Order: sequence, then C-alpha cells, then structure tokens
Amino acid sequence: VKTDGLPLNPLRTAAGPEPELLCIFGTGDLGRSLGQRLLQTGYRVVYGSRRPHSCGPVPQGAQVLSHAAAAQSAKLVFICVHREHYDFLEALAPQLKGKVLVDVSNNLKKNLYPEANAEYLQRLIPGAFVVKAFNTLSAWALQNGPSDANRQVFLCGDSAEAKQQVSDVATRLSFSVVDRGSLSAARELEDFPLQLFPEWRLPLWIATGLTASFFFYAVIVDIVYSYVTYKKDTSFRIMVSLANKVFPIVSLIMLSLCYLPGVLASFFQLYRGTKYRRFPDWLDRWMLCRKQLGLLALGFASLHVLYTLLIPIRYYVRYKIKDSTVKTIRENKTVDFETSTAWYTDSYYSMGILGFGLYVILGISSLPSVSNALSWREFNFIQSKLGYLTLFFCTFHTYLFGWNRFLRSSTYKFWVPPPYMLCLVVPTVVLLLKLLLLLPCVDRTVTRIRQGWERNEPE
Ligand code: HEM
Repeated sequence: VKTDGLPLNPLRTAAGPEPELLCIFGTGDLGRSLGQRLLQTGYRVVYGSRRPHSCGPVPQGAQVLSHAAAAQSAKLVFICVHREHYDFLEALAPQLKGKVLVDVSNNLKKNLYPEANAEYLQRLIPGAFVVKAFNTLSAWALQNGPSDANRQVFLCGDSAEAKQQVSDVATRLSFSVVDRGSLSAARELEDFPLQLFPEWRLPLWIATGLTASFFFYAVIVDIVYSYVTYKKDTSFRIMVSLANKVFPIVSLIMLSLCYLPGVLASFFQLYRGTKYRRFPDWLDRWMLCRKQLGLLALGFASLHVLYTLLIPIRYYVRYKIKDSTVKTIRENKTVDFETSTAWYTDSYYSMGILGFGLYVILGISSLPSVSNALSWREFNFIQSKLGYLTLFFCTFHTYLFGWNRFLRSSTYKFWVPPPYMLCLVVPTVVLLLKLLLLLPCVDRTVTRIRQGWERNEPE
C-alpha cells in the first residue's frame, strides 16, 4: 500500500485540522477492535504488519504499512502483539526512538516471566517511552466503548508526558484513567485480568468451610444418631431438613462475622487510646470483605426462606399431620390448644420475617448504584444501626426457635448440643460486645478517640 499523497483518515474535512495519526502493531482481535474505535473517535490509524499486503481484514479507513514505515509515521504506537513475539521490535529500535509505546499485553499465568511485559519492552527499546495501558479491557470493550464493567483504564509508565498522551487518547475514547505510577507497577496491572473475584475469595472459603462442617455435624447428630439409637433410616432428611438447618446457621454466623471486625476495631482503639495506629493486617483484610460476607449471608438466608416455604407441601410433613390426626381420632383424644406454643411459634416466625426484611434492605443498600445515591451518614445508619438490629432479630429468632429445648436432655444427642445452639455463640458474643460499647462511658471514649483525641498525647 502506498501512502504518498494518500489521506490516512476518511473523516478528514478540508477545513479542519488534520486528526492525529496513531499506529497499531498487530492486526489480531485486540488490534482490530482498538483501531475501529480509534477511527470512530476521529483519529487516523495506520497498522504495522509483517505482511502489509496479506495481513487479513483491517477496519475500513485504516492503512497498513510495514512495521518500520508505520512506526515512523506516528508518535504513539500501540503494541498489540503477544510478548513472545516482541523480539522483532529490537530491529525497529531506530524507528521507535522517542516514540510512545503502549503495551497492552497480558499473560496466561502469573509470574510466567521474571519481569513484566512492559518492562521487557522498555529494555528492548530503551530509546522509547513505554506506557502500560488498556490491558484490563477486552477486545469487545475496546470496540464498543465503556460499559458498567469496563469503565477504567489503568496505566503506568516512567515518562509523565508519555502517560499524558496515552491518557488523552483513553479520555477521548470515553474511558476514565487511573494512573498507577511508574513502570514498576506494570506487573500488578498485568496480574489484574488474571484475578477472579479476589475480594470474594475469603468469604467463599468461609462459607464453604462452615457449610461443610455444619453439614457433617448435622448428619452425625441427626441421621447417624437415629440409625444408631432407633435403627431408623432418616437419610431422606438430608435434602430438605438438613439443608434448612445448615443454610440459616451459616447465614447467621456470616452475618455476625460482618459485625465482629468493627467491634474488634473499636476495642483495639480503646486499648491503644488512639486512632492513629494501624490495625493488624488480618483485621484490615477482614474489614475489606464485609460486604461480600454480608451478600453471601443474605444468599444463605434467602435459601432458608425458600426451604421454609416448602415445609407445608412436604410429603413427610403431610404424612405426619395425617397420621397424628388419624391416631387422635382413633384413640378418641382431644388436643388442647396451647397458648404458650402459639406465642412461641408466632414469635419466632415474626422475628425471622423482620430479620429477613432488614437483611434485604442491607443487601440492596450495599449495591453500588444504591449506595452512591446515599450520603455517608445514611449509608452508615443502614449498615451499622439497621445491621445490628438485623443481627439481633435473627439471633432472637434462633433463640426462640430453641425455646424450652435448651433445658431438655433429649436435645443433646450424643451429649453434644444441636447445630443451632453452636451457631448462636458468635452472634451472641458480637451483640454483647456491642452492648458493652454502647455503655455511655465507653461510647464517649470511643467517640473522642475517633475525633482525634489520644490518651497518651505528648504534652
Ligand atoms: C429455623 C422460619 C428467617 C435463622 C427456622 C424454622 C422456621 C424458620 C420455620 C424452623 C425450621 C425447622 O423446623 O427445621 C423463618 C422465616 C424467616 C426466617 C419464616 C423469614 C422469612 C431467618 C433468618 C435467619 C434465620 C433471616 C438468620 C440468618 C434460623 C436458624 C434456624 C431457623 C439459625 C435454626 C435451624 C435449625 O437448626 O433447624 N426458621 N426463618 N431464619 N432459622 Fe429461620
């Protein structure tokens, strides 16, 4: 393709200034999508290719030249080539001298190479200004522009001027730019696309661990106990009864785990008498995944509600009701209405429903689109005050469910407490610690510390 005298941009008008020319090395998916978007935004685009005459389709309006010719014609070059093929760039060092090279590459695994791709590129072409950018976007996102999931372009590089040029292009493509500093941050940026829901990892581990442990425990004290003691096979209970034990239990523990770090943080501050010392790392990490813990807990509570709706239509439950009705008639007995039982069952249902209602409000208000619309005070009110109220209702629901069973020896199969009693430990501790913090003298000191007061302030 000859360039002499050819306008490289179809959008160019006779009167307007000539749009900037950008160069792309590589005509794969990413290179093509990027080129198309740049052309739509009003840039001129030239591709550098090993085989300019047979490189496959490129977006309409773009030119294809040899690598050397393309590099020479533009100030900014996007390197849309895999790192394994970078060595051909070394021969182009004279043409790339002084140019801004945008490294958009990613790797298939972490720590595959001793240095980041962008740092390697900078080593190959020391005379160029390498900027790492656009690597967290997919070809689809580049072609279609920013969407909710792909709004940010992270970049890093050693030259402020080069970063500014890349940042201008990203802004014109409607992305918002996040500058992550010098080129030494490139490895971190290259690891971003390899991460899969990093902040969900710990909550998912906790949820899986709790579910497995409580399921195992429930199988022993429920099904194995019936088999060993009465020679009765009650294994059918696994599907609904056990699920409807384990899910609410895990939910309640995880909800209390959302509030435990906040309470611990207050005690740390009280103990140290200052807010200016960092919390231990484990507490920081725990605090950062509270939202994920809470959302998972809400998921488990919803499962409990769905399973509870199922109770009246279960074959086992309907059979029990019919059987006891027939027996009562046969034996010509009457069953007296017990007001206390009605009170206790209605109360624990009601507490459960109130708890679940607030739970849903907490979940909804933690969604970014909702929380962005709230002031800090409103968000804090919902997540803290309503949060503790939710924990209180759900814990009370479980205590009421236990009712007088706490004192019956038949409750303690194999002499161990049933799972719901075990799960009450953490929420009870959290609520008691919170009550302690609400005592006026303690509350006053915590508030003062949070306003900047220090117990051992130098005179
Ligand atoms: C148990 C109803 C919400 C925690 C129960 C049971 C019922 C029930 C009927 C007894 C299940 C059985 O006999 O096997 C409800 C209703 C709710 C609700 C109608 C709301 C619409 C919640 C919430 C939590 C929770 C939000 C807390 C996360 C528990 C616990 C148990 C339980 C820990 C004891 C499980 C066991 O060992 O059997 N609930 N519940 N519930 N519920 Fe709820």
